[in-house]
Amino acid sequence: MKAIILAGGAGSRLYPLTQVSSKQLQAVFDKPMIYYPLTVLMASGVRELCVISTPDDLPRYRRLLGDGGQWGISVEYREQAKPEGIAQAFLIAGDFIGSDNVILMLGDNIFSGGDDFPRAVSSFSDGATIFAYHVKDPERYGVVEFDRAGKAISIEEKPQHPKSSYAVPGVYIYDNTVLDIARNIKPSARGELEITDVNLEYLKQGKLLVHRLSRGFAWLDAGTSTALHEASSYIEAIERRQGIKIGCPEEAALVRGFITIDQFHALIKNMPVCEYSDYLRGVADEWHRLQGDGQ
Ligand code: G1P
Repeated sequence: MKAIILAGGAGSRLYPLTQVSSKQLQAVFDKPMIYYPLTVLMASGVRELCVISTPDDLPRYRRLLGDGGQWGISVEYREQAKPEGIAQAFLIAGDFIGSDNVILMLGDNIFSGGDDFPRAVSSFSDGATIFAYHVKDPERYGVVEFDRAGKAISIEEKPQHPKSSYAVPGVYIYDNTVLDIARNIKPSARGELEITDVNLEYLKQGKLLVHRLSRGFAWLDAGTSTALHEASSYIEAIERRQGIKIGCPEEAALVRGFITIDQFHALIKNMPVCEYSDYLRGVADEWHRLQGDGQ
């Protein structure tokens, strides 16, 4: 399974924050926004990633994430010159995907709780798996309608009159036929290749699985200044309460066995003294304690 993180767009709803830095690099509490989707992917066992962003912003993502080797993953980069839709990601990153299955994550989607994604990735075989989440304002999203048996029967992109309260979050798992599907869809009225049209094609073929995320699961929006602030507050509250960080790629790399404990220590050594490195030191101590090696 390969993964794409789409971190493009002008971020106009976050003006003036986005005058000098891309939306998905903004801070969500104590980390850049892109760390959150990246960590979800790593925790799901994905090691080959491609980040898509604007030509302007791509160098900044490279500086932040490098080639991924420090976390035992590989990160490639591709440009999306103009915001021509989420589904364009498959055309841009076609050579990266090759003949594999792929999970696409939007770089501004923040999740916390549950193991729905790792499970969905490990049980995926073919077709498409997307998710549904109950929200108060479904008209802002792709909206999925279910029949009485809980089967998805329609999906509409930002409908004026939503047929349900279930929005589709920005995590999509597809088999390799997504490349053909993306090549064949036409731009929408807003001039974009819509991800909803890709999902509709899978639905038409009877190959779309829609997994409803549970109540306790958090899907946070970070697209406006208010939403960004709320997302930061939420992450801070959970992290402070639990003493566990959300969206920490170093920790995910260690837990998943992508890097050894020695490599983990080496990462910490290269960090300044700060809350983040203090936390990682605590993770290392706990790791040694659980191994019973008394370091
Ligand atoms: C996009 C998708 C929409 C999805 C949403 C999730 O909307 O088009 O179907 O529900 O992401 O964040 P956009 O962010 O382009 O408004």
